[in-house]
Amino acid sequence: MTTHWKKMLQTHWGISADLSQLDGEYDLNILAQSADQAYILKVMRPDCDASFIDLQIQAFDHIENTGQQIAMPAVIPALNGERMCEVKDEAGATRLLWVLEKCPGKTYAHFAPKSNALIHDLGQQLGKMDAALCSFDHPSLERDFKWNLTQANWIDGHIEAVQDAHRQTLISEISAEFAHIRPTLCELPTQALHNDVNDYNILATGGPNTPEKISGLIDLGDMCKAPRICDLAIAAAYIVLDHPQPEQALAALVSGYHDTNPLSPLEIDLLWPLLRARLAVSVVNSTLMAIENPNDPYIVISQGPAWRFLENTQIHPGLLKARLRAVCGLPVTDEAPEIMAFLEENRGHFANIMFEDVRNAPMGSLSVENSTWPQNPFHMPLKEAARVGAEFEDNGKIWLGYYSEPRLIYAEPAFRKGPWLASDRRTVHLAIDAFAPAGRPLYAPMDATVHVVENRRGHLDYGGVVILSHETPQGHTFYTLYGHLNPEVCKTLTPGQSIKKGDAFCRLGDPTQNGGWAPHVHFQLALTTDGMGEDWPGVSDPDEMYLWGAICPNPAALMNLPDEKAHYHPTDKEQILERRQKHFSKNLKLTYDDPVMFVRGWKHHLFDEWGRPYLDAYNNVPHVGHAHPRIQAVAADQLKRMNSNTRYLHKAQTEFAEKILSKLPAPFEVCFFVNSGTEANELALRLARAHTGAKAMITPNHGYHGNTTGAIDISAYKFNAPGGVGQPDWVKLVEVADEYRGSFKRSDPDRAEKYADLVDAAIVKIHSKNEKLAGFIAETFPSVGGQIIPPQGYLASVYEKIREAGGICIADEVQTGLGRLGDYYFAFEHQNAIPDIVVLGKPIGNGHPLGVLVTSREIADSFAQGPEYFSTFGGSTLSCRIGKEVLDIVDDEGLQKNSKIMGDRLLSGLRALQKKHACIGDVRGMGLFVGVELISNSKTQNEGTEIASYVKNRMRENRILMGTEGPKDNILKIRPPLTIAADDVDMILAIMDQTLSEIEIDQ
Ligand SMILES: Cc1ncc(COP(=O)(O)O)c(C=O)c1O
Repeated sequence: MTTHWKKMLQTHWGISADLSQLDGEYDLNILAQSADQAYILKVMRPDCDASFIDLQIQAFDHIENTGQQIAMPAVIPALNGERMCEVKDEAGATRLLWVLEKCPGKTYAHFAPKSNALIHDLGQQLGKMDAALCSFDHPSLERDFKWNLTQANWIDGHIEAVQDAHRQTLISEISAEFAHIRPTLCELPTQALHNDVNDYNILATGGPNTPEKISGLIDLGDMCKAPRICDLAIAAAYIVLDHPQPEQALAALVSGYHDTNPLSPLEIDLLWPLLRARLAVSVVNSTLMAIENPNDPYIVISQGPAWRFLENTQIHPGLLKARLRAVCGLPVTDEAPEIMAFLEENRGHFANIMFEDVRNAPMGSLSVENSTWPQNPFHMPLKEAARVGAEFEDNGKIWLGYYSEPRLIYAEPAFRKGPWLASDRRTVHLAIDAFAPAGRPLYAPMDATVHVVENRRGHLDYGGVVILSHETPQGHTFYTLYGHLNPEVCKTLTPGQSIKKGDAFCRLGDPTQNGGWAPHVHFQLALTTDGMGEDWPGVSDPDEMYLWGAICPNPAALMNLPDEKAHYHPTDKEQILERRQKHFSKNLKLTYDDPVMFVRGWKHHLFDEWGRPYLDAYNNVPHVGHAHPRIQAVAADQLKRMNSNTRYLHKAQTEFAEKILSKLPAPFEVCFFVNSGTEANELALRLARAHTGAKAMITPNHGYHGNTTGAIDISAYKFNAPGGVGQPDWVKLVEVADEYRGSFKRSDPDRAEKYADLVDAAIVKIHSKNEKLAGFIAETFPSVGGQIIPPQGYLASVYEKIREAGGICIADEVQTGLGRLGDYYFAFEHQNAIPDIVVLGKPIGNGHPLGVLVTSREIADSFAQGPEYFSTFGGSTLSCRIGKEVLDIVDDEGLQKNSKIMGDRLLSGLRALQKKHACIGDVRGMGLFVGVELISNSKTQNEGTEIASYVKNRMRENRILMGTEGPKDNILKIRPPLTIAADDVDMILAIMDQTLSEIEIDQ
């Protein structure tokens, strides 16, 4: 058959192409691939009405002729200039042929991720398309058509076809809702519409590290005339199906459309009932089809997503209206602008709710960055809640808390929006607080009616709370809320009761009455209660402030305050970035395409300036967790006393040394304290030279030992990097013992010895130049080389060879030491090898700059032959107390054991993911030192550098920090603080599974 159409395409269009048939219900759709371009050959069914094809061709041409960048295919004219040709098929029937350019990309149905950016782009494309179609007309557009959404009421006569009683009721409700809006809908102007932007008629492109974009809106076969909001509602009806956050998806779609084809509030308000009507038409239609075709199970299956959405999704229509209006920058209600104007006009003339004028009252910030309430951002103990803001207390004087301030004081699970500690959470305060002693009366800012009065007794809830309603002179109603009151108010006020401007109507509660908080009033304004009812959110997810900030704007005017005084602005990340670029070197790199700024941490979580939580699966410096209270305490305690150096006696130094030595075998006896891993490695080189009288060093390729001249000389990762200083002649490299990608694979039983033997050649090279070997230095498990676990026995064998050749062995345990590996305190234990020098850094100070070198008395004595050794800050009293505390915490909290348990959980989960996702080439690690090697082709096992960068960025978007490593930067590095818990490991696995599903590689 394709031979026939191939000939037709050649004859009539002069296109020589390979053909392959695509899906199509009634007509033939054929993909035609010529040498340089792809086309879609449309072969219409035999009885097809030519004017219907003409409609589509004219519409495509019209859109193209607008000159707008709209992602739609162009019609390819035939050789005779016509846009369609009449030809015979092989059976002799007459068929209409036409040809379209093939848009790139995949159908939206099969595309991932369906990001909000992609959905927003879809909205923009749709808006542009409808704007273009507004000036298009064609006689065939006038048709009676069950898919014309203005005629959705046809389903009324068929609701009984739906068997299930609940579903019948649901469809009846939707139908009634549609009948209610239909008169309004029918008054809107009509125009030509696509009318079927479903997920198979949308094409999208993009992939690892290229933004997702809409690349085609195809198939104009359902065109008709209707109000443009119908086109948007139809697209919306498909976008929400099985979407985890349908409201956000709708907001992205509608705001995109509004960008390119501005909507009126009235149109936006129609979207939700129209969306539901479209889904109802769809399920009723397929129910009728299923009755006609009882043997086609696919018809019933295809209804699944629409039923799931209609039956299970809890979306409040009023709140959705407000959301969609707000995301388009339109007022959340029609009355909102006049209410805001009223408040503005009367600023300065309201009765003071605290009685006294608070214009000069001090502001106290409880923000994520300014405040450390509560110490644990995942739990607010009542003891802390009752003292929140104690630092601003001044003899009972009033102080104010900010509006729009992100805070971590809303710490309980009720404020979390997902299953994980790092799930989105509500942090941004939607009110102004006035802190004052309990018992203080509050006064109505203007005439009011009591709307709600209650005692909300929940843990850290409001206690006594009052909502008042107010009316503007134009008769518009708005509301004010007063939380954390003495619940006696429930006895003194009743709903419906009038209150006069300036009347005292309630009093501040104490912590036993007000939910548990330091005495204050939470004073919130709302322009509507639609969607909130009586239980208003007092705080918002920072990414939802466009909505909640519009419904509950700054109430400053009602307190006679200027808005700016009470409006909090977190440190602006963009400004910090700009200033950083001004003041720092260009090779000081930032992680992530969109850099992240952190202002607080706790255990293995970090918080950005808006209080968004992130799971820290990357940073090994906070070994015992961010902001550990014992480290805070010991540092503060020592700073209160004194801080000096090793020239004076202090037990902090000896106790720290003894603690480290208790973890090491003989012959380790002597410690040197320095400020960093770099300095410790630099010192290790000096010791090696002093002890051997030699200079030459052997080290595995791609290693890293620090950033000073000497440390870089032994760090191939740096000296061989683009722009690096190159390999010094006294340094010899050996291949990394990488069992996955290196010369000797995991399947080779002799690989440890074979890798170790590579050292022989390096020794021979050194000796052949009449030079002497000073030593061997390696990250015991190479980390920057790609989280590699060398085969057991490798290092013991290398050390033997090095010692035979007169060198000493340096184990850089900066990344691997102190219990991270779970089974071992140090990585050399796994290798059954005892080094001569051990270098420790990073985690040993848990963030405080600290490095340690430990060696034998013999080597230390060789070094002691030289000049005095002194490091000003190495061995500071403060550093030593912190270092000792870190090691004690590892023991006291069983963190090595936790590393083992969590590491095993993570590794087995990752190995399960490896079976599912072809882009995982290798999973390796020990304890919480883990690497996942990503590949771009499962046959060639090529390094998936771009994929790794994509995964790292996507994980960050989903609030998980991890890194990439390895010579080709294709290995995901997972290396969290040792405090990580089972739920967090499960979060990593769940999000990774989701992210890897977005990746396809050649197999
Ligand atoms: C294995 C290893 N050694 C040494 C260093 C240098 O430590 P620092 O940056 O504290 O000087 C690093 C730092 O990343 C490291 O990973």
